[in-house]
Amino acid sequence: MNSLKTQAIEEINKSSELKDLNEAYRKYLGREGEIGKILKSLKDMAEEERRNIGKEANELKAFLEKQINDKKSVFLNSAKKKAGSFDISIPGRKARTGHLHPLTLVKRQIEQIFQEMGFSIVLGPEMETEWYNFDALNIPKDHPARDMWDTFWLKNSKNLLRTHTSPVQIRYMERNNPPIKIIAPGRIFRHEATDASHEINFYQVEGLMIDKEISASNFKAIIQEFFSRFFGKVVEARLRPSFFPFTEPSFEVDMSCLVCEGTGCSTCSGTGWIEVMGAGMVHPNVLKAGGIAPKDWQGFAFGMGMDRLAMMKYKINDVRLFYSGDLRFLNQF
Ligand code: PHE
Repeated sequence: MNSLKTQAIEEINKSSELKDLNEAYRKYLGREGEIGKILKSLKDMAEEERRNIGKEANELKAFLEKQINDKKSVFLNSAKKKAGSFDISIPGRKARTGHLHPLTLVKRQIEQIFQEMGFSIVLGPEMETEWYNFDALNIPKDHPARDMWDTFWLKNSKNLLRTHTSPVQIRYMERNNPPIKIIAPGRIFRHEATDASHEINFYQVEGLMIDKEISASNFKAIIQEFFSRFFGKVVEARLRPSFFPFTEPSFEVDMSCLVCEGTGCSTCSGTGWIEVMGAGMVHPNVLKAGGIAPKDWQGFAFGMGMDRLAMMKYKINDVRLFYSGDLRFLNQF
């Protein structure tokens, strides 16, 4: 039994992994193990011998069990450590929260400013019918004015991707009685070549204000107030006579280019001015198409480019950056 003990201890000490320990266990303590053999042979021994040897064998069994279990837990602990220790003193990893796209930031700010001025926010569909996008807006079927908007037509249908947010004017007038005071932000689509200031899809904010005596000077006051709240300073704006089939008179609204401070750059095509908005007094035919009597009501409408405003606000010189998905750009917001 002594030599068995020496041999077993040596084997346990020698074992370098769990597998060796299990093997030692099987060999000495297992069902067919060495100690088991001794215990089985007790029945053939004389009384006194049986008692002495039995006692010794059981002590050896308990001893070896402890040896093996102790070493096992050493192995298990070091394996646990390797698999991933947990150091509560290490500073935590910062959770990476997302952030809003610059165009979303600008959209929300525009909405807030107009809401503070009493405008409601309404939305319309991105897929439109020819009626809402053109006909109801006083753009006759074969009128050259239709060429002002390069349209993505949808296959086999009269449907299209809206080229402006103006159709929301009609949709809203159909369902609501004046007075009306709304803005309609949204995505629009144009089939055209892209460059630093043109994209095939971009965002507009439509505005519509209808009441008994709304005039162009109301428009000018509201839009100047909007500019100064949006940019946080007085921005130069100018109205130029223009043409839209759905407004009469019509004007183009420019603001001084804030990227180059008016000296001329690629954003403003060297002119120092950025065209940010089309506007005008709502054409009687448009009011009629929306179910409103032109002899009782009048007002203004405008459609401004949200991307242009965002470019001015953040001094961005290429509209394509908004849609590039380039994290070097996006992570700055
Ligand atoms: N819908 C016009 C455009 O996309 C802008 C506009 C809106 C002009 C409302 C006048 C009135 O160019």
